Amino acid sequence: MIVKKKIVLVAGARPNFMKVSPILHELEKHSEQILSLLVHTGQHYDHSMSASFFEDLGIKEPDFNLEVGSGSHATQTANIMIKFEEVCLREKPDMVLVVGDVNSTIATGLVAKKLHISLAHVEAGLRSHDRKMPEEINRLATDAITDVFFTTEKEGTSNLLAEGHDPSTVNFVGHVMIDNLYYQLSKIGGQAPSILAKSLKDVLPEKYICMTMHRPSNVDNKEVLSRLLFAAKSLSEKVPVIFPCHPRTRKNIEQFGLLSLFSSMSENGQKHENGFFIIEPLGYNDFLYMWKDACLMLTDSGGLQEETTALKIPCITMRENTERPITAEIGSNIVVGTDDQKIIQLGIKAINGSWKSSGIPDLWDGKASERIVDIIQKHYIK
Ligand code: UD1
Repeated sequence: MIVKKKIVLVAGARPNFMKVSPILHELEKHSEQILSLLVHTGQHYDHSMSASFFEDLGIKEPDFNLEVGSGSHATQTANIMIKFEEVCLREKPDMVLVVGDVNSTIATGLVAKKLHISLAHVEAGLRSHDRKMPEEINRLATDAITDVFFTTEKEGTSNLLAEGHDPSTVNFVGHVMIDNLYYQLSKIGGQAPSILAKSLKDVLPEKYICMTMHRPSNVDNKEVLSRLLFAAKSLSEKVPVIFPCHPRTRKNIEQFGLLSLFSSMSENGQKHENGFFIIEPLGYNDFLYMWKDACLMLTDSGGLQEETTALKIPCITMRENTERPITAEIGSNIVVGTDDQKIIQLGIKAINGSWKSSGIPDLWDGKASERIVDIIQKHYIK
């Protein structure tokens, strides 16, 4: 009789869901040898930040939902640890697999290692070298205790080797987020995934900009937030800007009295040739349907720098640094910082169609999750 090995996958916040989805689907193909359990920490909990992603991405119901919710970094991390420890003690997994760089990643990684459970980290080795970013601390701390690393770009591998990790534990596999992107794109085809997405597209001209912004360094400070919104507002006088807004950002916009910067959307379905439109966060497929045809993405997200690179959509990253340098080196991303004039100048170039030419990074071919599961099976849970 085959004794199945047990892997616990952890997801907690919005950017985790698109990373666990392709790995889970791949693991299901090996269900005779591997039992995969999904733990949702509940770091994100609004329907638009969590459940809608499970629906869109076809992720199974979590086997455990820790329902930790929001809180300070210490509170959130500690609550995840306490509840995840109970899961590990009960399930005794052979491996815990974490993705990305959110609080759920480090919290569950720490628990696993203290219980002597093998720890795998997908999207390991990325470094912004900015220790004021909470994610950078999560990345450094997670990688310090990881047993098996999966990297998305060569710089991730070089960082880990420079930090002294054993080369035999570092696997350059490509990017599971891009596996998911290609899959979802083929699934939606040219069709609007929902009535909402269709009605949004219907009121836009051919050229429009998509925007996302949620980093504390950009949205928690009134001056920086106003400057970035001003830049977007300026560009929105040329072409419409659609801004599905993260709850953290929305709260601050309201608190700082900046809602008046936005335009209201026509109710009679007439096209908008310009205007700055703030909307609720969109589900994965609705947002993909919007941004895949945008002339520009304005963002401070990590994942969108990569996804826009994969589809060669011009991307302006409103941050001083990136932990994903390949997107700027060969991809369609330009890391601009938070200078409104620079953002406007470059934004106009994108609107005029004169962006840099770009390529697609090595191994971003839709097969990263296959490589990961193959490596885990052959080398780690024989
Ligand atoms: C987290 C991640 C960040 C990631 C982002 C994607 C950390 C340290 N940060 O940041 O890396 O890019 O998710 O969204 O893990 N809120 C809601 N509803 C929700 C979730 C959050 O209203 O479903 C609000 C709450 O006021 C909460 C705030 O957003 O306090 C921040 O949420 P939190 O999970 O702490 O961090 P994010 O800013 O979302």
